[in-house]
Amino acid sequence: MASFLQIADDEKGHDLDLFCVPRHYENDLEKVIIPHGLIMDRTERLARDIIRDMGGHHIVALCVLKGGYKFFADLLDYIKALNQNSDKSVPLTVDFIRVKSYCNDKSTNDVKVIGGDELSNLSGKNVLIVEDIVETGRTMQTLLSLLSECNPKMVKVVSLLVKRTPRSSGYRPDYIGFEVPDAFLVGYALDYNEYFRDLSHICILNDQAKEKYKV
Ligand code: IMP
Ligand code: MG
Repeated sequence: MASFLQIADDEKGHDLDLFCVPRHYENDLEKVIIPHGLIMDRTERLARDIIRDMGGHHIVALCVLKGGYKFFADLLDYIKALNQNSDKSVPLTVDFIRVKSYCNDKSTNDVKVIGGDELSNLSGKNVLIVEDIVETGRTMQTLLSLLSECNPKMVKVVSLLVKRTPRSSGYRPDYIGFEVPDAFLVGYALDYNEYFRDLSHICILNDQAKEKYKV
């Protein structure tokens, strides 16, 4: 089973005043739960684990937009650094897919794939799916079943976060950054109705903000 850094349910987090948070979000957040530096340190190690397991062949890194874009960019930078500083290296190409399943702070049953390249390009490749957060697991299960129709050689999933929730289908990614409490998280490209992607740290949203940015 994949190892992960566990953020406990009773984790108190960090006071917002201790970090740089954009002024426009100051009143919307409860606390900082994963500071940006810790995200980067954990991501560096995930890159090493992924290269150890997948480093034998050409890797296609598939970014699940929009929430995965920060993690994708930083993870690939670390993979690139490993590739250019060791005797063994593998070609790495990128692809993007857009998936939408969320309205306000609720996952809907309807997982929509809206855009991205032809998935058939992935036939015969080692595919690494890069996702921001797995909650129920439905998004990833839908994506995996779509992908299996394209006959990739290998598919691995890395998710920065996995939520501990009774709504989980039981699905677990191959690589996990952090396991987090059952709260709505924003920042580091995770959004609430498109807001908070422009926040570096992963934070807990307060109830007042859920109303303020509701659609
Ligand atoms: P799942 O299909 O329920 O696993 O949900 C996965 C998707 O829902 C993720 O890719 C996110 O885009 C979104 N999501 C789930 N939980 C959160 C959260 O706490 N904050 C922001 N987005 C979330
Ligand atoms: Mg996502």
